[in-house]
Amino acid sequence: LAAVLVLTACGGGQKSGSESDGNVLRVGTDAAYPPFEKQEGSGEITGFDIEVIQAIAEAEGLEVRVQHTGWDGLFEAVDSGKVDAGISAITITVERKKKYDFSEPYFEAKQLILVPKDSDVSTLEDLKGKKIGVQSGTTGEIVVQKAFGKTYEGIRGYDDTPGAIDDLVIGRVDAVVADNGVVLDYMKKLPEGKFKTIEDNSFEPESYGIMVKKGNKEVLDKINSGLKKIQEDGTFDKIYEKYFGQ
Ligand code: ARG
Repeated sequence: LAAVLVLTACGGGQKSGSESDGNVLRVGTDAAYPPFEKQEGSGEITGFDIEVIQAIAEAEGLEVRVQHTGWDGLFEAVDSGKVDAGISAITITVERKKKYDFSEPYFEAKQLILVPKDSDVSTLEDLKGKKIGVQSGTTGEIVVQKAFGKTYEGIRGYDDTPGAIDDLVIGRVDAVVADNGVVLDYMKKLPEGKFKTIEDNSFEPESYGIMVKKGNKEVLDKINSGLKKIQEDGTFDKIYEKYFGQ
């Protein structure tokens, strides 16, 4: 019955989104990572990544359907085939490459530490003994674990990055470690002059890739082909400029 209702609701005999369809690219994201992906209430998911994947799909003659899966949910959704691909400011790591395949890199990033302006912290090491908010399962968490050990009791894991930043604002954590793009975007929205960012020398360059299930060459080839087209015809630069240009 549910399937029938969905078919009726979509009209035109579209599929429900739970099965794959050669012309539809089902994409998962954790839509709480502005400016890469965001969603107001139950509204449309927008952001840099979303425009990139839409442009890629368009270049390949595909229709794209983006759904919010959350961060942990994204890896599960790609595993189970609920979505064909994930785009979510996902850093390509050796660990993740064991289970997933990634597109060519499309964005360069680094971690940043966000602290109150009057904080005495000026390096990652200075965070020792302090409460550090990170989004669980992200590279932000990994750099903190690498510095202070996996069982460091000051680490506070959140389901999403806005949750960690909200707790920093009310003083429940002393710092947040997250990707530079998202931290710098928050800096624009946080009370002016109340926070500062710190880049530690130990932070390594990261590259974002679009993620598919390991071995899903068919989808990965289309994504890489579309990505190449939009990089060559200037579409990618236009989207980049819109979100990150001065
Ligand atoms: N780049 C980091 C990672 O891959 C954080 C990405 C978080 N993305 C998100 N949409 N919440 O671990």
